[in-house]
Amino acid sequence: MSAPPLQALSLTELRQRSSTKWRRYPDDVLPLFVAETDYGLAPAITRVLARAVELGDTGYTPPRPGVGEAFAAFAGRRLGWDLDPASVRWTGDVMMGIVEILRRVISPGDRVVVMTPVYPPFFDTVEEAGGIVERVPLRRTADGWSIDLDGVADALAGGARAVLLCNPHNPTGTVHDRATLAALAEIAERAGAVVISDEIHAPLTHAPHVLTPFLTSGEAASRVGYAVTSASKTFNLAGLKCALMIAGSGTQRGVLRSLPWEVEWRTGLFGVMANVAAYSAESDPWLDGLLAALADSRALLGDLLATHLPEARWLAPDAGFLAWVDVSAYGWGDNPARRILADAKVAFHHGPLFGAEGTGHVRINFACAPEVLTEAVERVGALAQS
Ligand SMILES: Cc1ncc(COP(=O)(O)O)c(C=O)c1O
Repeated sequence: MSAPPLQALSLTELRQRSSTKWRRYPDDVLPLFVAETDYGLAPAITRVLARAVELGDTGYTPPRPGVGEAFAAFAGRRLGWDLDPASVRWTGDVMMGIVEILRRVISPGDRVVVMTPVYPPFFDTVEEAGGIVERVPLRRTADGWSIDLDGVADALAGGARAVLLCNPHNPTGTVHDRATLAALAEIAERAGAVVISDEIHAPLTHAPHVLTPFLTSGEAASRVGYAVTSASKTFNLAGLKCALMIAGSGTQRGVLRSLPWEVEWRTGLFGVMANVAAYSAESDPWLDGLLAALADSRALLGDLLATHLPEARWLAPDAGFLAWVDVSAYGWGDNPARRILADAKVAFHHGPLFGAEGTGHVRINFACAPEVLTEAVERVGALAQS
């Protein structure tokens, strides 16, 4: 990748932000927890939002806001996915999209497979839709994490009606391979179940890994699957509220069309504008710069852990800016993030929230300046020495 890496904003600037990352803890804490990034916006996004503010263009999202077309073009350029914009509908955020699809495809009391450790709102979202979480943990292999296909097949044979897939997976950063995704789809199809694939981290796949959008993994995937995504993680737009629900085939299109109008009305107009700008070709160089910055940051984190926390165990993520790190060797309890926050003044995400597999783990957000990452790991290293 030849793009120069993006530079993160300074801590002085970042502390003027009003988002969760910067307001949750006092200023003596370095926040590396929630999945917000510390870079400025892509110029095309800044421009469209600034103009909207000037115009007072703050009303409702129009019926055809162009976000499906923008994503389809992006998917073709960056994900190798030939997608018909007519398959796309939109809503306020990814978790809203997942809950609304689940409400349509399961009945109250149905079980839904989630693969732990996993992004904690997956648990609540299944319950919000009236479902019951069925955990099928990822398998830890010598060189990565993989879906336990036999475990999923057993869960579906036992009556689970849907699978909530995370592709790439948060918190492990796993990019599932095409054959595994195709096999998952076939298992689901045989069981008459549905797969909903959360692909919010997809544009952040690090070379040489290649992301396979679930719906492109094979014929069965298009018959059983939905994808839900947004530019919000890659381009740091979470507060603007726009996400996309994508149907694998005509049947699923019908399901998406059957959702209440309100689902679409909840989409933020600024979110639509920002997503369209993010997905435009004009933002590609910015995204390349982000990927370069994240690759550097991921390598730095590896060096810092080796130097300051040599007993920590982790695998560099294939995608994204989140690192899943086992620090149980340091004896900081089941939830080490608590001890680290109290005594090192660094906020990592709490491992146990991601499932029982998260005992002794923390999740580190490394989408920050090298100086911030360095100081954070040094502080935790000093705690380990004390
Ligand atoms: C896998 C995954 N899905 C969804 C979300 C949240 O997306 P949204 O804010 O659009 O609901 C996140 C946020 O970090 C995430 O990591």
